Amino acid sequence: MALSNRLKVTPLAANIGGLVEGVDLSQQLSDETIADIRGALLDRQVLFFENQDITPRQHIDFAARFGALHTHPLYPAIEGIPEMIVLDNHKDNPTDNDSWHTDVTFIDTPPLGSILKAELLPPFGGDTLWSSMTAAYKALSPTMQKFLSGLTAVHDFTRSFPEESKVSQNAGDNTYAEARKKHPPLLHPVIRTHPETGEPCLFVNNGYTTRIKGMRGLESKAIIDFLFQHIQKPEFCVRWRWSPNAIAFWDNRCTQHYAVNDYLPNRRVMHRATILGDKPFYRAAA
Ligand code: SIN
Repeated sequence: MALSNRLKVTPLAANIGGLVEGVDLSQQLSDETIADIRGALLDRQVLFFENQDITPRQHIDFAARFGALHTHPLYPAIEGIPEMIVLDNHKDNPTDNDSWHTDVTFIDTPPLGSILKAELLPPFGGDTLWSSMTAAYKALSPTMQKFLSGLTAVHDFTRSFPEESKVSQNAGDNTYAEARKKHPPLLHPVIRTHPETGEPCLFVNNGYTTRIKGMRGLESKAIIDFLFQHIQKPEFCVRWRWSPNAIAFWDNRCTQHYAVNDYLPNRRVMHRATILGDKPFYRAAA
């Protein structure tokens, strides 16, 4: 299905995922092409590009066309490019992304999106799955949608990054202490209105969400556990098998993802640039 005159975007599943052809990310792209990619992202929620042999600098420059970039407080980065996270996983450093999550919801303005490139792939495994939070919202009963709308939930940096985690330990005591101080728990709406499409999206994730404000512990746990399970329904998902130099660009405002940890003891290296977004809000449909 062609979504623009310049790009070919083929849907990979009903609710989410599009394979983009007809663009070379090593080139300086026109504003029109960037607008087409943005439009396709809004439509498909995660876009895949194959055979993009670009440098980290070209990767960062492409990401920066969509907004200011985030520097992660803990993950290692490429020397001289602090915004480029290196996810280098092997038997002594297994991934910590093998759970459903939305990136960096521990900040006030969580990312618009992330752009991930395969640098070194294992001989088998290492796929990534994305789930559509608009599809997950739509599949809830109107009663549940109404109940959740207007609620807020706590997002806590230490849920994914407790002091004893490998990522925290690798970062070192001072960096970790500083990151923790800078990121106290904060609130986001449980249902978020997408700032560009206006669609409602479920916005709690197992990476960072700890409880729903205003509910007793067990009440909150029951709802949150249900939602964490609900978002995993295969019908909401697309699964991507990586190839060398493939790139995934996801809309972090309306998706969650899961990195499958099934390739050890082999090594898998990915580079990620993360584009900052805006403050989540909920607006009831008119
Ligand atoms: C991430 O969670 O940002 C990385 C996903 C992956 O490595 O597949």
